[in-house]
Amino acid sequence: MSVKTGFINVPVRVPTAKYADELLSLKCGTDLIATGFFPNLKEVTESFAAYWAVRRHCKFLKTYDPDVRVVVVGDGHKPRTAATFAFRTAWTIYSIDPALKYSGYIPGVQRVLCMPIKIGSFDIGLNPDLIVLVHSHAPIPSHLKSQAVVSIPCCIPDGWKLPHVEYDDWGIWSDLRRVRIWRFSQEPGVASQVAA
Ligand SMILES: C[S@@+](CC[C@H](N)C(=O)[O-])C[C@H]1O[C@@H](n2cnc3c(N)ncnc32)[C@H](O)[C@@H]1O
Repeated sequence: MSVKTGFINVPVRVPTAKYADELLSLKCGTDLIATGFFPNLKEVTESFAAYWAVRRHCKFLKTYDPDVRVVVVGDGHKPRTAATFAFRTAWTIYSIDPALKYSGYIPGVQRVLCMPIKIGSFDIGLNPDLIVLVHSHAPIPSHLKSQAVVSIPCCIPDGWKLPHVEYDDWGIWSDLRRVRIWRFSQEPGVASQVAA
């Protein structure tokens, strides 16, 4: 903070436009917008932040691997985060939220399966490689085993402690920008289990 006669200058950190810029640069950007899943750029920044958390910190999950299964918990009315991962990887994404306005596969959106149910209310018959929660009101589902969990919590805590990686992503256009990552893979230097 600096003080000059009559003025106080206070530096205030502001979010970056990196994810908005990225959306414009992507080949799939227009396809993502055309889904109609994103009402504004704020929602884009949240879903992209989850995507980049995985890309940067869960490198054992290869984007080109069609066998990777992802569960997105609390995706909202529309499967925004699921679509983000589907358009940007070869993965199959299960979007699970009782508020979803879709059920089953969506025409024009490949590899996104919508399940308008509460997580845990139905046996989805798989342990996913990755669990993603973006401002979910459901806690991290401890009954599912996965190689990694990425949580960007909001007003309701995700319920888990001691993430392996935790940071604020200033690309997120919301005050709720804390990113928490647990990794359970055999990646060198990564703990194999964590207390829930
Ligand atoms: C604040 S909204 C976030 C929606 C979206 N992820 C977003 O960022 O815009 C929280 C979501 O959690 C969902 N939710 C609450 N309990 C849930 C549960 N048990 N299983 C799955 N989703 C749940 C709600 O239906 C709601 O859509």
